[in-house]
Amino acid sequence: MVDRASLAVLVTRPIVEGSLEPLTDAGIRIQQWPVDEPMPRATLLSQAKDVDGILAMITERIDPELLDAAPRLKVVANFAVGVDNVDVAACTRRGVVVCNTPGVLVETTADMAFLLLMAATRRLGEASQAVRAGEWRGWSPWFMLARDVHHATLGIVGLGAIGRQVARRARGFDMRVLYANRTRRPDLEASLGVEYVDFASLLRESDVVSIHLALTPETRHLFSTEQFRAMKRTAVLVNTARGAIVDQAALYEACRSGEIAGVGLDVTDPEPLVAADPLLSLANVLVVPHVGSATRETRIAMGRLAATNIAHVLTGQRPPAPVNPEALGRDRRAD
Ligand code: GLV
Repeated sequence: MVDRASLAVLVTRPIVEGSLEPLTDAGIRIQQWPVDEPMPRATLLSQAKDVDGILAMITERIDPELLDAAPRLKVVANFAVGVDNVDVAACTRRGVVVCNTPGVLVETTADMAFLLLMAATRRLGEASQAVRAGEWRGWSPWFMLARDVHHATLGIVGLGAIGRQVARRARGFDMRVLYANRTRRPDLEASLGVEYVDFASLLRESDVVSIHLALTPETRHLFSTEQFRAMKRTAVLVNTARGAIVDQAALYEACRSGEIAGVGLDVTDPEPLVAADPLLSLANVLVVPHVGSATRETRIAMGRLAATNIAHVLTGQRPPAPVNPEALGRDRRAD
């Protein structure tokens, strides 16, 4: 029998109220960092010492150094679906279960991808900025000419849960939807109305390219000079996945030189992007601050799922969203 009273979980940020009930209901003690900023690394390492679980944000690096500092740690629940901030292999070796928050943020993030798709295509950021800058001198047949979203060709790179929801939204705009994916998904093609193409064809044919991949060594800088050259000069790029999938120096050059028409980014490399970053000097670059899942409803659902993941692991039940299920039921050990 687990002695729940002795279980403790570190929550590395204040999160929307009510989200942590699955932990309190299970009688697990919560130790929460009270400031809405990343925990200083030294504080994280020292506070991890006596806890059995960590509910972590993507701003925390969960690596061998942290695992060494946390000998009791049994579970890390990321408050995100992407786990590129976690050394999952190191966690697995030591019997630490890693969990994430799939499902609950899919539609909200797909909404943001579609917003950026429309905004980048119709030059919304630039148009709004022009009004603020006093550049709206009256109606003109030429002012802020853009391209149509409806009937355009959308290329989805990565037909996972979010990519599929973006495809569904695109149907409402009568878009032609292409997808490139590690594995072809004939089972989804008819129901979603999507066509499978190789990556090169997708770049060549799309008016909007939207990235829906995890960041891995294989996808880091998947988009660089060569890929931007392969895209139409009238095309826009949308990234709601991870900033480092795009080589940002090459993106700057492609947007500056007109190799592509523009970009809508929810994620950058690094984050935060400083206001003086050269990318932000370009009118055809629209950046929002990693807010793809930032709705109250979704953040509550993410918090509850992360808290449930931890409560289940610590009370001997299968968590709803394990990333390394092979670590379940293993004893915690040193590397
Ligand atoms: C957010 O970026 C996530 O991966 O959920």
